[in-house]
Amino acid sequence: MLRLSGPILLVLGVAVLGRAVPAAEEYDLEITNNGPITTGAQATVHATLRIKNNSLASNLYHFNWIYAPLILIEKSERQLNSMINVTGEFPGTFPVSVWVTHRNCWLCRPVARNVTVLQITEFITGNLTIAQIEDSRFIRHGSSSSTGAVTRISFCLHDPSDYFKSARFVYNWDFGDGVYQITKEPFVYCNYSTMGNRTVHLKVIAEWEQIGSIIHEKETMQKTGDFTTSLELLDAVKGINVVGSRETHVMENLSLSLHINGTPPLSLCWLIKSECIPLEGEKCHLVVINGSCYNLSHTFSDAGQYCLSVRVENGVTMLQTYHEIKVWPTGLQPAFFVLLCVALVSVMVGLVLYTTFRSNTQQKDLVEVADFDFSPLSDKNLSSHSEPGCCQICCRSCFLQSPQETARESHELLLSFYKPVKMYTV
Ligand SMILES: *[C@@H]1O[C@H](CO)[C@@H](O)[C@H](O)[C@H]1NC(C)=O
Ligand SMILES: *[C@@H]1O[C@H](CO)[C@@H](O)[C@H](O)[C@H]1NC(C)=O
Ligand SMILES: *[C@@H]1O[C@H](CO)[C@@H](O)[C@H](O)[C@H]1NC(C)=O
Ligand SMILES: *[C@@H]1O[C@H](CO)[C@@H](O)[C@H](O)[C@H]1NC(C)=O
Ligand SMILES: *[C@@H]1O[C@H](CO)[C@@H](O)[C@H](O)[C@H]1NC(C)=O
Ligand SMILES: *[C@@H]1O[C@H](CO)[C@@H](O)[C@H](O)[C@H]1NC(C)=O
Ligand SMILES: *[C@@H]1O[C@H](CO)[C@@H](O)[C@H](O)[C@H]1NC(C)=O
Ligand SMILES: *[C@@H]1O[C@H](CO)[C@@H](O)[C@H](O)[C@H]1NC(C)=O
Ligand SMILES: *[C@@H]1O[C@H](CO)[C@@H](O)[C@H](O)[C@H]1NC(C)=O
Repeated sequence: MLRLSGPILLVLGVAVLGRAVPAAEEYDLEITNNGPITTGAQATVHATLRIKNNSLASNLYHFNWIYAPLILIEKSERQLNSMINVTGEFPGTFPVSVWVTHRNCWLCRPVARNVTVLQITEFITGNLTIAQIEDSRFIRHGSSSSTGAVTRISFCLHDPSDYFKSARFVYNWDFGDGVYQITKEPFVYCNYSTMGNRTVHLKVIAEWEQIGSIIHEKETMQKTGDFTTSLELLDAVKGINVVGSRETHVMENLSLSLHINGTPPLSLCWLIKSECIPLEGEKCHLVVINGSCYNLSHTFSDAGQYCLSVRVENGVTMLQTYHEIKVWPTGLQPAFFVLLCVALVSVMVGLVLYTTFRSNTQQKDLVEVADFDFSPLSDKNLSSHSEPGCCQICCRSCFLQSPQETARESHELLLSFYKPVKMYTV
């Protein structure tokens, strides 16, 4: 008998393996639980079989569960889903495993298996959340808050099976700055005025009455829970002040100082471009500064209008500012330009003197010649055909006035050319 069973089992085993070979990659078995729960409450564990190969979808499957030492309350199975409700009398972490076989082949190797771990505690389960309110809107969730704004700290009970449905709750808050509060609501508003790190403690007490299982008399039940959350209070970034010139020259080293009103460490990002742009995920020069001041220097290679965009963040707030910069051609060029104009004016004045002198004697001839030579070029400005008109053509870009006016204008221009230069040296 024993000698025979060996080969038979082997044959069976081969047959089983033969059927189960495609199992590994063609199925996914997802398993989740809605824990953690408190002792006595119920947890639900869900398992879902996902089939990657459509030709296998018509098969029927069977879910097998292992949940001991937990107590099964309910079990249900529908096509590719299965669910169990379990409860536990003792705290601990309990693995719950499931495996799936073909319905018509219970002895076959499972097509998929998975496990989940359920947490059971004797305490109340839940969660503390922090939200900051500004202008009656929630602006930020998380552990960083800014001082001076109202912070809402709320407790969220995790009770999927409604175990605490008849319980009364009392909340004891310790705000970490010597302030305590007892509430019946699961939330408080607080207003921290000094920055730093705070730890907020909450003790939750739940009380309810139930019929005792042994004496069958009403008895008062109580469960507690302790929760802690830490709050990093930072000052909001209130201002960015850019100190420095708004004008510079090509190839000059422009130095700017950024003064920031906010709690360090600050993450600062700056960018110089031809237009002002909001630095949202833009490529910018990122620096983390410990102080409140940052010096930057930049050398422009082309003249034009530029904009320094600055974004400062400190984990609570983000602030952005712009600083426009006008870049002039190199400092040498205006002087050179002035010299050129002075030379041109001298030439023109000489020409005018010369032609006035000559026109007294040969005016008629010249007008005729001028008329003949320049009529194709002439426009409204030149219709007078006078000699200064010739000069106007040469120096049109510079001066559109008669020589006398030109001389005055050039004087003014000389002044205005020196003005900005003066400004820079101050
Ligand atoms: C087991 O279940 C988890 C949770 O649903 C899932 O992320 C994981 O992929 C599963 N493992 C397998 C082998 O199916
Ligand atoms: C799907 O399963 C069928 C039958 O088991 C098999 O013939 C086929 O190759 C599988 N397809 C893929 C993509 O694995
Ligand atoms: C099992 O849990 C589900 C959801 O968690 C719930 O709807 C259902 O009523 C529970 N079943 C029993 C018998 O308690
Ligand atoms: C708080 O609750 C949320 C949603 O219920 C959960 O995702 C998160 O893990 C919980 N956090 C803690 C610390 O328990
Ligand atoms: C919070 O405190 C700050 C400073 O103590 C105060 O300026 C502000 O008005 C307070 N806000 C509220 C809503 O009480
Ligand atoms: C506050 O806590 C954060 C992280 O939790 C830490 O980086 C920071 O240095 C702390 N600040 C102070 C003043 O202790
Ligand atoms: C520009 O000037 C600053 C100080 O004013 C200096 O630290 C920096 O090295 C200079 N940059 C260049 C390119 O000369
Ligand atoms: C900023 O301060 C932190 C700690 O306070 C230090 O580790 C870091 O080196 C400092 N960074 C600079 C640029 O000074
Ligand atoms: C920035 O420059 C100013 C003077 O230009 C100097 O007093 C200050 O110390 C500098 N700050 C830093 C962080 O280099």
